[in-house]
Amino acid sequence: MFDSGIGGLSILKALRAELPHEDFVYVADSGHAPYGERDDAHVINRSSAITAHLLAQYNIQALVMACNTATAKAIATLRQAHPLLPIIGVEPALKPALAMSKTRRIGVMATRGTLGSAKFGTLVASLAGQPALVCEPCDGLADAIERQDDSKIIALCAYYTRAMGQFGINIGEIDTLVLGCTHYPFASDALRQWVGPGVQLIDPGEAVARQTRRQLPEQSCDDNLGTCQLLSTGATSVLHDAAQRWLGLDQPVNLLLL
Ligand code: DGL
Repeated sequence: MFDSGIGGLSILKALRAELPHEDFVYVADSGHAPYGERDDAHVINRSSAITAHLLAQYNIQALVMACNTATAKAIATLRQAHPLLPIIGVEPALKPALAMSKTRRIGVMATRGTLGSAKFGTLVASLAGQPALVCEPCDGLADAIERQDDSKIIALCAYYTRAMGQFGINIGEIDTLVLGCTHYPFASDALRQWVGPGVQLIDPGEAVARQTRRQLPEQSCDDNLGTCQLLSTGATSVLHDAAQRWLGLDQPVNLLLL
């Protein structure tokens, strides 16, 4: 699995809960992040290089793209290049949000790259019943989470939620907020502070984990807990500290030169 950085740990957390006996290899492409404000070629090239590396060195049986931006821009290319490899992507959870929303006014926070992609356009067009979607490109938020810059995270969450309008459970208010970037669940506390207690925050981690279980060609019959290997193309301490803080995983992170 891979992400542009530490955001995909929100998916790894759900995967470990769903598939405790499987072994995971996590690549944080921090040396080439963020993806959200980069062009398509950059994201496609990085996604292709990481996938080739995981296949060659780790003999993976499935790939989870733990990044909405990479999924939006590169999943079609990867599926074409590796037709036999199950590839599970992450996309903003609009359909679950629609099923939950009572006001039918739904906020979507994601990167500029995800919201501007053709794949996101197709997803929006497939929604029935014409809900009101308030989409907000959150430049800089993934980067602030990557840096664990708490005051910037709070300030950006305040700025972007204010720009989206009124949150709440009354008619005309946004009652459901889709976290369309895997970094954003790690800003949930800051977001909650601004949107209030009644608003539902939608994190796709568990749905992605269930989908991964369905797509695995075979599951481990080992009774032991699976392993996690952590690799980073950037500062290894960032991934180490985030994995320790959020997943309770205290283990070395290897530098990946790719
Ligand atoms: N975590 C990534 C996503 O889900 C993107 C963060 C970035 O901009 O690199 O979209």
